[in-house]
Amino acid sequence: MDLYRTALRPLLFTGWFGDPETLHGRSIDLLTWLAQQHQYPLGRLLRDRLAATYGCPSDRLCQTLWGVQFPNPLGLAAGFDKDGTAAAAWQTLGFGFAELGTVTHRPQPGNPQPRLFRLPRDRAALNRMGFNNQGAARLAESLQDLRRITPSPLTIPLGINLGKSKMTPLDGAPADYLASFRLLRDLGDYFVVNVSSPNTPGLRDLQDSDRLGAILDALQQANQGQKPILVKIAPDLTDDAIAQVIAIAQQHQLAGLIATNTTIRRDGLRTTVLSTGNRPQDEPGGLSGAPVRSRSTEVIRFIYRETGGSLPIIGVGGIFNGDDAWEKITAGASLIQTYTGLIYEGPTLIRQTLTGLLGHLDRHNLPHITAAIGLDHRQDIPIP
Ligand SMILES: Cc1cc2nc3c(=O)[nH]c(=O)nc-3n(C[C@H](O)[C@H](O)[C@H](O)COP(=O)(O)O)c2cc1C
Repeated sequence: MDLYRTALRPLLFTGWFGDPETLHGRSIDLLTWLAQQHQYPLGRLLRDRLAATYGCPSDRLCQTLWGVQFPNPLGLAAGFDKDGTAAAAWQTLGFGFAELGTVTHRPQPGNPQPRLFRLPRDRAALNRMGFNNQGAARLAESLQDLRRITPSPLTIPLGINLGKSKMTPLDGAPADYLASFRLLRDLGDYFVVNVSSPNTPGLRDLQDSDRLGAILDALQQANQGQKPILVKIAPDLTDDAIAQVIAIAQQHQLAGLIATNTTIRRDGLRTTVLSTGNRPQDEPGGLSGAPVRSRSTEVIRFIYRETGGSLPIIGVGGIFNGDDAWEKITAGASLIQTYTGLIYEGPTLIRQTLTGLLGHLDRHNLPHITAAIGLDHRQDIPIP
């Protein structure tokens, strides 16, 4: 029996124990505490016990990408652990990697609350957090502390997702991203340029070729080929705009693309936002979860087709189980991430998704997850 779905979730969703943002803060506190227990023998025992409950270690799911080893393809999506305080806890839940951030160069409080809403009938979330975070210097400090510990409490790769500080004008974006990157360069296994959040005014205009090119010029010059850099895009871009991002990615030797962030669309939603009584159409912010699933998969499919599978993709949007994960991987994603799924399914989602993937590999007689990446396209791509 799944305790989260049968007992905890119904209780938490009543609202008696706090609004969604408060509950999110409590889960981060709990995971931060768990991460700190690494220093005690009993804590390590608890960590190993949890890893055995939630994880699903299998050589068939492990892959090396950009020279980085990923124990499995399912990662935590950006936005959950913005300040990286629980960075050492995500492996315990069975994730194959975790993306910290979005972090901005300057600390900032984000938008006024309430700014995170659940839409249960749509299995969705709506947020307009606005990059609330303690800034790149603080994240660098806590990651330095973590990386100093031996033996390392980290067994999975950490991505770091960078955003533009709200107070920085769009023309100052390259310098702003660069300042964060310089502070964090040695501390992440890969980096993400987030130009797709709908909650920082003008941010998504940075997906435009000239502006994105200027940011990537600055970052790649400082990077000198050392770390994989990816760009995270919105599901609301047209095919032409995605094709332009692909061209920029190729010109700037990007390691890959992340598809996708939340959507500003509101098609076909059934839930009223309980805490405000408003229709989701009348609430600004980005929509995530089930309603973004198929569009995100379409974007992945498009990128894979346009690039012949040469540009790695991290697929994210509406992953709740192994079938959703399989859909993204066979459309072309090398790695996948989830956020809203965790809200609805709890941590057992991770093991269930990974065992679901193993079941799909068996049914398709495939030895390894890498053989499934872009499987849907095999007939379309001429074999060289
Ligand atoms: C509350 C919330 C906060 C988020 N914050 C960020 C963020 O800071 N940076 C980012 O790149 N994406 C952020 N996202 C987007 C997720 O990383 C992900 O791209 C999107 O939610 C789609 O995945 P999902 O359907 O699994 O949630 C956030 C999503 C949610 C629900």
